[in-house]
Amino acid sequence: MENKIKKAIFPIAGLGSRFLPATKTLAKEMLIVLDRPILEWAVIEASRSGIEEMIFVTSSKKNSIIEHFNRSLELENLLKKKKKSSQIISVQSQSALGQFTYVIQDEPKGLGHAVWCAKRFIEKNENFVVILPDDIILSKNPVIGQMIEIHKKTGGGSVLALEKVPKREVFKYGVIDFHKKSNNFYQIKNLVEKPEPSKAPSNLTVVGRYILNYKVFDLLDKHKKGHGNEIQLTDSLISLIKEPGLFGLEFDGNRYDCGNKLGFIEANVKFGLNDKNISKDLKKLLKKI
Ligand code: UTP
Repeated sequence: MENKIKKAIFPIAGLGSRFLPATKTLAKEMLIVLDRPILEWAVIEASRSGIEEMIFVTSSKKNSIIEHFNRSLELENLLKKKKKSSQIISVQSQSALGQFTYVIQDEPKGLGHAVWCAKRFIEKNENFVVILPDDIILSKNPVIGQMIEIHKKTGGGSVLALEKVPKREVFKYGVIDFHKKSNNFYQIKNLVEKPEPSKAPSNLTVVGRYILNYKVFDLLDKHKKGHGNEIQLTDSLISLIKEPGLFGLEFDGNRYDCGNKLGFIEANVKFGLNDKNISKDLKKLLKKI
């Protein structure tokens, strides 16, 4: 089956309250891991997986995001004058990652509502990707690419990225109930958003990468509130179980949750250790502290 998945929705209209006061004026997605914003890492993953159209669901206060993915001729000319040619390439690369579309979510009513805001860009029966950039992933093969392979193998099924967590932590995540298919591949029969550990059907949790079908809008159209009085994406995924089928992949790679302080610091350390220019000195520094 040919890869026809070309669009990715990035819901990035949340408040980022766990990073206040930094996020009073700075979008959480623009916080830097190593040398680029969190959001750019997620867009690079999408682009490497063959996604061509990046749809950002954002708020009117996050204009710096638009500027970051546009070319800045003024900056390029200044760098040219200073003969900084490698830096010119690094600031030109963002706009080449794909075509960018922006939609405003006027109020953060929940992740499900944010995805619904991009409905008009998705065609009937179309399969598309949703990426939560808070989760950044270090992997040999981009995770969205790994999921597209499963999508093809299942004849067009919807696919969620999964990660096992200790049972006591499941209350922070969407959790699946499943029939096991193979070592890292599951057929999903139900989902629960943020269950109490004693009521959780498993310890397999949904990470911020989804391949969904247009059919998911059947439930999102109803704007029904769920956990935390927000419109939840997890609740709407149930509509995909029968048709086209809902599958889960325990992906190959390491995920860092940049939505909280500890995960964000861990991501910076791991991405630093992965960078050949600084890894040796960073190791020395870490030993020292
Ligand atoms: P979070 O639950 O992490 O919320 O959203 P948040 O507002 O970003 O951060 P905190 O909890 O206040 O610190 C997960 C993802 O869903 C997006 C967020 O931008 C983030 O990428 N989101 C959430 C929306 O786009 N709109 C919403 O209404 C809610």
